[in-house]
Amino acid sequence: MPPPKNIIIWIKYSQKEIFSLHYHKGPSYLALLEALYRRGHRVFLAFGAADLRGNDTLFPPAAEYRDGALQAPGSADPIRADVVYNLGDIPSIHGMSPITNTPAFRRFFASKYAAYELLHEFFPQTIRVKREEDLSPARARFPDARAVFKPDTGTNGRGVTVMEKGDAALNEEMRAIVAEPGGAILQEFIDTTSGISRICDSYHDLRIAVMNKGTIALTHVRIPEPGSLIANYAQGATIRELSPADLPESVLSLHRAVYGRIAARFPNPMYTMDVGIGADGRPLLFEINGTTAFPWPGFAGKSFFMKNLAEHLEGQML
Ligand SMILES: Nc1ncnc2c1ncn2[C@@H]1O[C@H](COP(=O)(O)OP(=O)(O)O)[C@@H](O)[C@H]1O
Ligand SMILES: [Mg+2]
Repeated sequence: MPPPKNIIIWIKYSQKEIFSLHYHKGPSYLALLEALYRRGHRVFLAFGAADLRGNDTLFPPAAEYRDGALQAPGSADPIRADVVYNLGDIPSIHGMSPITNTPAFRRFFASKYAAYELLHEFFPQTIRVKREEDLSPARARFPDARAVFKPDTGTNGRGVTVMEKGDAALNEEMRAIVAEPGGAILQEFIDTTSGISRICDSYHDLRIAVMNKGTIALTHVRIPEPGSLIANYAQGATIRELSPADLPESVLSLHRAVYGRIAARFPNPMYTMDVGIGADGRPLLFEINGTTAFPWPGFAGKSFFMKNLAEHLEGQML
């Protein structure tokens, strides 16, 4: 057991409710606090960049997790963080403490095109659409297939449009997305209708959460609603937990290659990779997210996930 440390979990004030039982994953976030506490650490919540003082990453904690509950912090003195878990998307940090994930890492992977540039051979062909006039030449690169139009910085399936074969028209929503600061991307469609051997029969998006030196801490498959091609939970997809042992070797080998490339640039990274198995049986990336997904409270692998997240945080400490 490593020596006790101060772990600051840094969130936006508006995210406080993720630690409440009213939030569907609240029990999982509380389980993280409990896992860290049981490993002998002091666990604090702090809110926002404005609360950070000085160059030593001194936080005035908003709450401390003790004896099964979030409580007022035991002391009025600021806490020096041994590690900061940037669970909210805090824009910058000026202190000296190790932080995971860094704002720079999160910003990098917020751009789908940046992820493509780093990992291009693991993605379907992807073209940037920064101006309206970029769309038709981009679409002409794969005219005989479906193509997927997405905002460069979207999440939850927002603005994702599958363009049918031969269709190259921009609608109002797509125009507005092209005008966003990051613009849009157009991506070759991964035809996942053949499913994944012994996992699912048809359309899917397979999520793999990676942390703690390349460990797969959590994996689940999302199946779009009947009639939809968009496999986000927020768009009606269903989620089923998998065990890492269920994953086909082709996916594990993709994971190793992707991890090697990301870790060469960002040491000991924590991220999720989303994968689809195409018509030729080859797994390709849909996207990389610069944060981990959390398990649902009922997932069998919840404590394995918490152990890995705790070890990941301990591994970042000096
Ligand atoms: N290239 C693609 N081929 C086929 N389906 C795709 C492709 N890209 C995205 N999708 C579908 O759209 C969903 C959302 O796209 P994604 O890139 O993951 O964006 P978001 O960040 O909004 O989740 C995916 O879960 C998948 O079902
Ligand atoms: Mg996605």
